[in-house]
Amino acid sequence: MENSRGSFTKGIAAGVVLAALLALLLMLFVAYTGSYNIAASQDHSPFVRWLFSTTMSHSVAARADELEPPEAFSEAQVEAGAEHYKAMCEHCHAGPGVKRAEWAQGMLPQPPHLIDEAAHWQPNEVFWLVKHGVRMSGMPAFGETHEDAELWDIAAFVERLPGMTSSEYAALGQQTGTHKH
Ligand code: HEC
Repeated sequence: MENSRGSFTKGIAAGVVLAALLALLLMLFVAYTGSYNIAASQDHSPFVRWLFSTTMSHSVAARADELEPPEAFSEAQVEAGAEHYKAMCEHCHAGPGVKRAEWAQGMLPQPPHLIDEAAHWQPNEVFWLVKHGVRMSGMPAFGETHEDAELWDIAAFVERLPGMTSSEYAALGQQTGTHKH
């Protein structure tokens, strides 16, 4: 009894080692043969796209969970956030009545139109995304160059984006002169 259970366990262990070796060989094959197309002109397969976007959204949610957003955002924060958005985000993410820059249309993944997508993210998640960026996607990290208070201003503005009209958008972010770059 003991012996047959022992050889069964050994068989499983050998199977796991073999599977790990095959996975490693497959990775090396892909890395060295050039068989995987990394072109930004062609989308990932549906499975790889699903894997990346699901990993990305759960990674952001898990890390942003620890952040406490301010109880309410003031109009002054939305105004200051709009100025940052127009200077640093609009060319990739577009805005009400404003298209993304021509070069940003060649990016993959495509920077989403935040007017449509912002409602899927909590302000603490937007804060985290803007502070840390998303590796290997083109979404930059702004945490090195901006104070947390400025990043909350941006989150305050992004929360307002869904449903914003183009004239409201045009009027915002003109008054403060706080964006120094
Ligand atoms: C150079 C282009 C670029 C700039 C500039 C940029 N982003 Fe992004 N952003 C991206 C890309 C690409 C993604 C998609 C990442 C992904 O799907 O993995 C993204 C994703 C996001 C997301 C998540 C949206 C979603 O549904 O996937 C938010 C929120 C966001 N960016 C906010 C901002 C804000 C706010 C700024 C300005 C402070 C900004 N981004 C600047 C390229 C950019």
